[in-house]
Amino acid sequence: MKLETFGRNEWAPAVGARLVAFLPDGRHRRVCFATGSTPEPAYAAFAAGGGALDDTEVFLLDEFLLPRGDPGRCDEMLARSLLELCPSPPLALHTFDVSAEPLDDECRRYERELDAGGLDLAILGLGANGHIGMNEPGSAADTPTRVVDLHPTTQQNAARYGATSPPSRGITIGMRAVLAAAEIWLLVTGEHKAAILNQVLTGPIGPDVPASFLRDHPNAIVIADEPATIPR
Ligand code: GLP
Repeated sequence: MKLETFGRNEWAPAVGARLVAFLPDGRHRRVCFATGSTPEPAYAAFAAGGGALDDTEVFLLDEFLLPRGDPGRCDEMLARSLLELCPSPPLALHTFDVSAEPLDDECRRYERELDAGGLDLAILGLGANGHIGMNEPGSAADTPTRVVDLHPTTQQNAARYGATSPPSRGITIGMRAVLAAAEIWLLVTGEHKAAILNQVLTGPIGPDVPASFLRDHPNAIVIADEPATIPR
């Protein structure tokens, strides 16, 4: 897995420009987008740099089991941080209906949409506990899209994002579909991510740190800012 590092202020423009180049006009792309704090400045730079999603099928990476419209939901974050900044809507938008019953059927529906063409690119963030999406520690490399119990730090993330009540569960694209993406970008910023990024890059590959599985992927890259790459 390659590691590309940028200065704190250069990181977002670099990722934004990379995404503009990945989504050229007229080329149908299928891309899964993480939400959370990390990608927000990169998405803003993408939009400011003329990025558009007209030819892109957008897949949301994960979602909290929170009522529709809750500001802490991932679909709300994606709208605020990316979709509303772009000049026109994406070619298609795939999100989770967390009120569907049974939820397992909703997970299978989403997995079918993923598999009907796969992902050209998965844009991921890194959880403080090594998760990607909501694939918490303990997630094997072949896990499907599914309902998950959230680690306390992930629940705290939801509160940080503005959730009106802390969700205990979520739905996430599973490790299998993430690892099946043709290309993966793991976005990591800030000194608070340095210790876990060091584990991802140099520790054992396995379910204890789900992001470590990216090291077995032929086309995965970590795009980090300098503070995230100084082991502490
Ligand atoms: C959250 C989400 C992930 C996100 C990660 C990092 O809980 N489940 O999709 O990428 O944790 O979040 P942040 O970028 O806010 O640190």
